[in-house]
Amino acid sequence: MSAFTFAVIGDYHWVNRSCHNHAIARGVTEDLDKYEWMHRHVTPALIKAVCRHRPRFLFQLGDLAEGSCDSVGKEKLELAEAWKNLAKTGAPVFTVHGNHNPSALYCQTVRSAMSRSLHCPINTAHFHFQYERVHFIGLDTSDLRINNPQYKWLQSLLEQAAQWNERVFLFGHFPLFLVGRPCFSDLAFMRALGALTAKYLVDAYFCGHTHNQSVTLHTRDGRSILQAKGFALGYSDKPPLALEVARRVLIGPRDRYLGGFLEDYAPGYFLVKVWKNRVVLSWRVLNMGEVVRVEWRRAGHYQVRQVLPLARMAAMRSQDWKQIKSARLHMASFGLKQEDCPVALNGAPIGLAKSGLSFAPRRCIAIPADQARLIRTVNTVAIATPKRAGIFIGGVRLELTLQDGRTVSSPVSDFYATARRWDAWRTPHVHHVRRGRNIVIKLSFTG
Ligand SMILES: [Fe+2]
Repeated sequence: MSAFTFAVIGDYHWVNRSCHNHAIARGVTEDLDKYEWMHRHVTPALIKAVCRHRPRFLFQLGDLAEGSCDSVGKEKLELAEAWKNLAKTGAPVFTVHGNHNPSALYCQTVRSAMSRSLHCPINTAHFHFQYERVHFIGLDTSDLRINNPQYKWLQSLLEQAAQWNERVFLFGHFPLFLVGRPCFSDLAFMRALGALTAKYLVDAYFCGHTHNQSVTLHTRDGRSILQAKGFALGYSDKPPLALEVARRVLIGPRDRYLGGFLEDYAPGYFLVKVWKNRVVLSWRVLNMGEVVRVEWRRAGHYQVRQVLPLARMAAMRSQDWKQIKSARLHMASFGLKQEDCPVALNGAPIGLAKSGLSFAPRRCIAIPADQARLIRTVNTVAIATPKRAGIFIGGVRLELTLQDGRTVSSPVSDFYATARRWDAWRTPHVHHVRRGRNIVIKLSFTG
């Protein structure tokens, strides 16, 4: 076989502002503004970088367009525009179904174009093709369930690949393994794909959805699989925030974390070169170059050649305590309504916990100057919890900006839940707190 390269990019969230008049009228524009800016100022460089490698194929991992438009017609228009934009790469594009775009519209809008690339009709939201004895399988992760038609279809493909000792690359939207964003996938999908990848060898699984990016190796039942989780967008001119600084990474004892970034930073792509007896996966970030590199001959037997070094926490020196310019308390949550949760730092009120429904980033309390002066090496954060609604909070950390421009962060907190509905995810580091009681968290700076 001849060697070839394919590229993979994560969630794309293409925005056509004229399709979102209802959201704009309601003032719900945080994501629209951000993604529109990124597509205008960053995406052209990303497309150019991908093109330079002349990939044989380009895979996109769902949420091709932002969606939730004013009408079905506008939803289709936005998806079609997104597709056209990716087609600029010149490579055949394959995209999987993400949760931001309804399955029927996704199929109507992009399936015919993918069918033309494959010279055969695609009649479902999942697809498969083979090139140079390598299987490329696109999953509809919102539909894959144990023993359902898609499961049986996938099982037969994996069986066939195993019999002929052929490589398999899987592409889906939801993660198979949670990394950095708890309770944010689809449990039924995770069980279904988990059952199949425990039985059959797969070279790599590419996914998106969480917008945090990472490359991780996971071992279950003696079988290892690489998960590459991507997001195409981000502020390429800002220093990226390492995932392990802002979130508990949630990696298991037999797993390996090769690096990750929090949402909004480090736009990039995965590049995979396939030879007859060798594969090299390279994660490349705009303005940073290659940050992770993994090679393998046999699926599951990975050789890690390059990783992102774990971020080291900056220490607060004694002279720094008088140099605090501003301070913020970051947090992420599910089920949280802003008005319900007053927050105190070292006994003094600092504001209300910011609303959060999906453990999203960008939620923080700017700490008033008076209270910022009370921050010390060990700090106590108390979050009042609502009596009625269950909440799940984590990713709590203090971040200080010093007069000389440095930023110093405390280590990030565990998770705290006041309801059992998140138990099914079996997230480690969860503390249960009775509703109406305070969540009390100690946050310390190193000295
Ligand atoms: Fe997304």
